Amino acid sequence: MSIPDTLSGKVFNLNIRDTFQQIVAGNQTITGGINGSFWGPTLIFRKGDSVHMNVHNFLNDSTTLHWHGMHLPAVMDGGPHQVLPPGALWQPYWKVTNNAGTYWYHPHLHEMTEAQIIKGIGGLIIVRDAIEDALALPRRYGVDDIPLVLTDRKFDALNQFQIAPYGDTMMVNGTVRPEYTIPAQVVRLRILDGATERSYNIGFSDNRTFYVITSDDGLLDKPVPLTRYLLSPGERIELLVNCNGQSGTSVNLVAYNAALTPQIAGGESFPTGLFANALGHKDFNMLHLNIGPVSSPAVTAIPAALTVNTFPAASAAAVTRTINITDSAGAPGAGPLAFLLNHKLFDINYINYTVPLNNTEIWELASTSTFAHPFHIHDVAFNILSINGAAPPAEQAGWKDVVLVKANQTVRFIARFEDYADAIHPFMYHCHIALHEDGGMMGQFVVNNTSSIDPASLPAKGYT
Ligand code: C2O
Ligand code: CU
Ligand code: CU
Repeated sequence: MSIPDTLSGKVFNLNIRDTFQQIVAGNQTITGGINGSFWGPTLIFRKGDSVHMNVHNFLNDSTTLHWHGMHLPAVMDGGPHQVLPPGALWQPYWKVTNNAGTYWYHPHLHEMTEAQIIKGIGGLIIVRDAIEDALALPRRYGVDDIPLVLTDRKFDALNQFQIAPYGDTMMVNGTVRPEYTIPAQVVRLRILDGATERSYNIGFSDNRTFYVITSDDGLLDKPVPLTRYLLSPGERIELLVNCNGQSGTSVNLVAYNAALTPQIAGGESFPTGLFANALGHKDFNMLHLNIGPVSSPAVTAIPAALTVNTFPAASAAAVTRTINITDSAGAPGAGPLAFLLNHKLFDINYINYTVPLNNTEIWELASTSTFAHPFHIHDVAFNILSINGAAPPAEQAGWKDVVLVKANQTVRFIARFEDYADAIHPFMYHCHIALHEDGGMMGQFVVNNTSSIDPASLPAKGYT
């Protein structure tokens, strides 16, 4: 398995190209890449630094590059409004204020997001900070701190990617049938679900316990022991796996069964995984991990505590905005497979919400859809208050920017919209299933610095 190169410092040169790569035997596959032929480098940021990007679009089509999870000015966000025509150079810059964690970047051109992500355009971002530095955690990139971008693809008879929501071929970091050797100690896996539709219910083939240490936007208070985590598109977790004394053995990272895919109520079954699979045909073997010798200096213990997060209290919220998530049936203009937010397709010329700067808000995602939808919001990290009225599980109780809203669930989160006001340039919120997002399951908000506005007078300009 390949490990993406890293770029660090304060100036980052990213060249987006149409290219090709030998992925499976036979014909090469037409791909998109950033500084390479599939996917892009991992950008290493330090909290507190100002970072400058030189993004050059060498594609034969327009694109955008969105910094998923980064808190930054809307005009730097790289959403559907910051379009880069072929040949364009875009130079956003911002001060990194995010917590240490794993983030990513990807195209966000409206109606082209699925196609451009499938080509392979994107990359990881690792933020480092003093709190994380001080912990005894594995952090040697590619040695005991392994980035894993999970995604599936469907190839046609000529080995080209099909624009299809569900692939039948699993890839990790762009490698099919991946294998990697990790040392016999505590190892950190930084995992992104970079797929355009599938959620992966991840675990290990021997059902060993792993310890989740982050949720999208930073450290959890303490490691959460689990044997499965349902990771949905756009979501990231970092986990620790204890391989002390296991040199010479191996274990697989597996995506378990179908019943927990985005189509929670849809009864979809996974196609057969590409690997010979002892675990049943509905599971994907994602990555074969060989456990090699110890690599010094080795981390050998799971820390008891990580950080102390403080989240806004529900009582601090100035407003609750309800976003209905529905199947499209009967909605004007919606295709038969569309899903809607507040009964309305995305309109790039319409601002759905105006959020007063420094507002603390509760967003209530009320689904009556038959699908599960990974809801994502730009600009802010949020804290989940409740899922169907109950407190979220510990692994989802940190800072997040994607939450999988399962069929008929109601999820409430709280977030504070601070630092960057811009009455012109909006931020997006949307389903991170690219097919749904491209199909119009998206809305936009501006953060407006008009302190005289009474937040209560600013519910949805939209469609509740
Ligand atoms: Cu990862 Cu609006 O995107
Ligand atoms: Cu985003
Ligand atoms: Cu969706």
